[in-house]
Amino acid sequence: LRHFLTIEGLSHSILTEILDTAESFAGVTAQQVKKVPLLRGKTIVNLFFEASTRTRTTFELAAKRLSADVLNINIDASSAVKGETLLDTLRNLEAMHVDMFVVRHADSGAAHFFARHVAPHISVLNAGDGRHAHPTQAMLDMFTIRRVKGPDFGRLRVAIVGDIMHSRVARSQIHALNTLNTGEVRIVAPKTLVPVDAESLGVQVFHDLEAGIRDVDVIIMLRLQRERMQGAMLPSEHEYFHLFGLTEQRLAVADPDVTVMHPGPINRGVEMDSQVADGPRSVILEQVTHGIAVRMAVMSMTMRAHTDAEAQEKQNV
Ligand code: CP
Repeated sequence: LRHFLTIEGLSHSILTEILDTAESFAGVTAQQVKKVPLLRGKTIVNLFFEASTRTRTTFELAAKRLSADVLNINIDASSAVKGETLLDTLRNLEAMHVDMFVVRHADSGAAHFFARHVAPHISVLNAGDGRHAHPTQAMLDMFTIRRVKGPDFGRLRVAIVGDIMHSRVARSQIHALNTLNTGEVRIVAPKTLVPVDAESLGVQVFHDLEAGIRDVDVIIMLRLQRERMQGAMLPSEHEYFHLFGLTEQRLAVADPDVTVMHPGPINRGVEMDSQVADGPRSVILEQVTHGIAVRMAVMSMTMRAHTDAEAQEKQNV
């Protein structure tokens, strides 16, 4: 696991190793141990070309808990605005002896581009690329589900509700849920917000909220991602809430122990009302907390892959 770019193609055992490693770090966090020395002497650059609250800050906290040095590049205040190319920005940061890039970008494939062009000793972690993938978000969601519902994903029905078409989070969640052998994965969305390849993703598709969440154990709500819609036909926010907004009343058709999740940011009164977002079924803030341990796990595992490869090379010489 030299880079962490997508969930697609990763094995059940790798995903389980990430969750188990995160569990060990979550224990460290719970014991108020501030730092572990695993990445001491390493330099990690957070390179966010798109806005972020949760992902950027939990990556930063995760790096600090692993004792790494962290640089946060403010792209709007960088020489990218003077016309420097992405590749030149990359080469200049590399010249500062960086060990890892955490990249968020509006273009699908941006993290893969970085991974293809960095020096061999550098890891690239995808913090969200266009509508393609947000793999650490999916893993912190799996971690949250496992903590709340236990390790047997096979007995779970999970519904992902909302703007699936533009959602990198949904794509990564679907791959993770299927790889972990989840009993039933549903997507629930208006016809205009279902991706064209939905059937090939191994999910059941619903266009009616109550039918889609009936008897489910976990509901993952998503926001309308207007920044990626580019003129798509859309209901107004009021109409959308009327048809797909999650309320206490609608929640009653799900399993009585249903867990409600959302990757954030929430648009209250659009995809869900505050009673649900802040209610007893919601684990939305726990998801954020778990992001630290999961990102510590991915950072330590990718760095270990380099150390192992270097040790192997020395042995071969
Ligand atoms: N879930 C998520 O990616 O949130 P941010 O955009 O705040 O990082």
